Amino acid sequence: MSDEYLLKNKEIFCEELGKSRFSLGDLYLLRSSGKKLRLLKFGDIADHKFINKFKEAKGKVVLDRMVNNKWIDGISNLFLDMQNSRLHVDNEKIRLEILKEFKKIYWEGIAPGSVVDLFIAGERAFYSFDDELTALLQESNSVYYQRSALKGFLAVISALLMGYVDYKFLRDVYHICYLFDYVFFKKHGLTYNITQAQEMERITQDSGFYLLAKQFESKNELEMFQDHLELGTILASGDCGKYFYNKSIINLINYHHEKIDGSGFARGANHSEVSDIELIIMALGQMISYDFMDLTFDDGKCFFKNMISLHTIENECSINRYFMMVQKIFNEINIEQKTDDEVGEDLVA
Ligand SMILES: [Fe+2]
Repeated sequence: MSDEYLLKNKEIFCEELGKSRFSLGDLYLLRSSGKKLRLLKFGDIADHKFINKFKEAKGKVVLDRMVNNKWIDGISNLFLDMQNSRLHVDNEKIRLEILKEFKKIYWEGIAPGSVVDLFIAGERAFYSFDDELTALLQESNSVYYQRSALKGFLAVISALLMGYVDYKFLRDVYHICYLFDYVFFKKHGLTYNITQAQEMERITQDSGFYLLAKQFESKNELEMFQDHLELGTILASGDCGKYFYNKSIINLINYHHEKIDGSGFARGANHSEVSDIELIIMALGQMISYDFMDLTFDDGKCFFKNMISLHTIENECSINRYFMMVQKIFNEINIEQKTDDEVGEDLVA
């Protein structure tokens, strides 16, 4: 990263955070002694009441910006064009532009970018939940909220890869990714045991159930876990239906613990039995961890390609529609290679 870029982006006052739900960089309280106290790490949930308390009481709050604003603006504007477009042929062109921009960073790694850029781009392009629902989703587990933001944006990219170009449909796909465990947010809270069980189940069939079953105090949690697909669908349909153009997409909650090799629950559905969108939800659910993400400045380079490659190697069910589709289409998309000078210009923009 060039010195010029770092200088230009250092210590921008926190007003730049605007209403973003994620911190656009490391956020510091600047003491009169010149020492800095870090309030938020890059990609943390930005609690604006908390930040404002420090601003009012203690003074100077500064942001070391780490997001790639130029890329985020470009992507969110393309989605806006898609929203306003009335012609399918135009949306096809916009789809290709978005996929090219994504490929440069997250597939080829020839341009700078981070995973947090994906959170912010998804938020700017689609996020419509009101403050009350947002608070409910964030309070339960902040790591989970970040995971939802990432899964939501990657689900949209996956849908674009499969040829879906209707903005309202993509927005529905994005939003449903926050609601898969709605029943825990709404009724029980997302406990440590439940989070652990979800992560274990993601990796090995039935291991989450065993974890909850062997702990006496978790008896209720086991029942909650078993019921959370069906109950979650009913609750989310009632509470959150207004956010969806096509409410039937809420039924995807039933598929968020299925796996592409048929070893998931509740049905053990195999990838050959499900629709494209169900397959996207299953594949991403299997690949994205529920654990803490160590988010850094340039962790986006080849991120999506590496994530898929890792699971293609680990997973015996490597020949499947999702992986093959993603690899095939990205290989077909040609991106113009930039010279070193042009890449440098992007960095300081
Ligand atoms: Fe779940």
